[in-house]
Amino acid sequence: MEKHANFGSRMGAIFAAAGSAVGLGNVWRFPMEVGNNGGAAFILVYLLCILLMGLPIMVSEFVIGRHTQSNMIEAFRRLAPGRWWRFIGILGILAAFVILSYYIVVSGWTLYYTYSSFSGVLMDKDTDYGVFFGNFVANPWLSVLFAAFFMLLAHIVISRGVQGGIEKCSKVMMPVLLLIIGLLVLCAFSMPGIDEGLRFLLKPDFSKLTVSAVLSAMGQAFYSLSLAMGCLCTYASYFGPKTRLMSSAASVAAIDTFVAVLSGFIVFPAVFSVPDVEANAGPGLVFQTLPYVFNMAFDSVPWLGYLFSGMFYILLFLAALTSAISLHESVTAYVHENWHMSRKKAATLVSVSTMSLGVICSLSFGVLSGWTVFGMNVFDLFDSVSSKIMLPIGGVLIALFVGWYLDRKLVYMEVTNNGTLSERLFGVLMFLIRWVAPIAIMSMFVKGVMEML
Ligand code: TRP
Repeated sequence: MEKHANFGSRMGAIFAAAGSAVGLGNVWRFPMEVGNNGGAAFILVYLLCILLMGLPIMVSEFVIGRHTQSNMIEAFRRLAPGRWWRFIGILGILAAFVILSYYIVVSGWTLYYTYSSFSGVLMDKDTDYGVFFGNFVANPWLSVLFAAFFMLLAHIVISRGVQGGIEKCSKVMMPVLLLIIGLLVLCAFSMPGIDEGLRFLLKPDFSKLTVSAVLSAMGQAFYSLSLAMGCLCTYASYFGPKTRLMSSAASVAAIDTFVAVLSGFIVFPAVFSVPDVEANAGPGLVFQTLPYVFNMAFDSVPWLGYLFSGMFYILLFLAALTSAISLHESVTAYVHENWHMSRKKAATLVSVSTMSLGVICSLSFGVLSGWTVFGMNVFDLFDSVSSKIMLPIGGVLIALFVGWYLDRKLVYMEVTNNGTLSERLFGVLMFLIRWVAPIAIMSMFVKGVMEML
């Protein structure tokens, strides 16, 4: 077998993991979930989920990945030979497929919006952004074409390997992304809807907090941190021996949460400034409101509006790309290593099969909108099933595996880099992994599912 790949530096490892975490989940999905679930109270629950479940599970995945230096199915096979624990790996691969197949659809939208910004269509004062978005997603050719193009780009990065593709891509894109988000927040503060936007984001109304909203907050936390399906476990297998697992996890979670909350501060002042868009507009939310922000903010200098909007969608696209490659990589690494295929062949197999599912997701906004299960189209179904069902199950199993099955000493050695670091919080971490995370996840999951039925 070939030597297992590695990231070039500790910083590179953090950037790559943050690149996986920060993506459409932060800028597109987080505002959509906040909007659907009533605002500030949802955000509070979300933050608790990050702290009490997200962080411990992230460290758990890091421990598994770095210790075994292998893809997720192989990792469980090595740590628990002959047991059914490898089910976690299989579930993870399935989840990656489901998520990636609709992720590329939204990523395709970001490409189309980049194009429309620079061509000027998007900045036309008379454009109704709701109608613009609706027409685009219902067009079978355009949306499939853009999704396929995005898939091709992700495919190219993956084929270039861990250091030359994934790490390089993340190191360049993450800092630029943070800068632009900062600039956009400044823009949003000049919107007329700023007061109402801030009230929505900061003043909790707990009466709106249903059980299903709590389950959504947890699903969103896992989703945003790229957890519970072995994605970060695969990345951790490329970590070097000096990478500090706990502090890296804390950095990744902090960057991710920061970007998500700032995105809320960009989107909601805009939502309350636009007359016909509601906070619960669903998947189109960010695409229907942000063009308006750029239009308003640069009213007197339209070319700056073009530029800003174009840049924003390029960056959204780049954020999506680093996350999509992490989803792709966790499947590709398995196919490449365990099925003994070359990296390129494995990547091609994964790209083609995900794209086939992607076409169905894409068409579910138009031609196939009649195909519904539980009242959801295929796109919404994939999104809900993966985040509300697959991720919580994966999360519980990973916590139980590291907390109860793995030898505590092994976990301690990984977390302290073989005893060279003093980790005062190790006891707290283990308590969260063994008790708090599994119990919280299971109770939310059971209640949430009962409410949905
Ligand atoms: N975290 C990414 C985002 O916020 C999406 C993502 C990448 C993901 N890898 C994942 C979600 C693994 C769940 C599991 O956009």
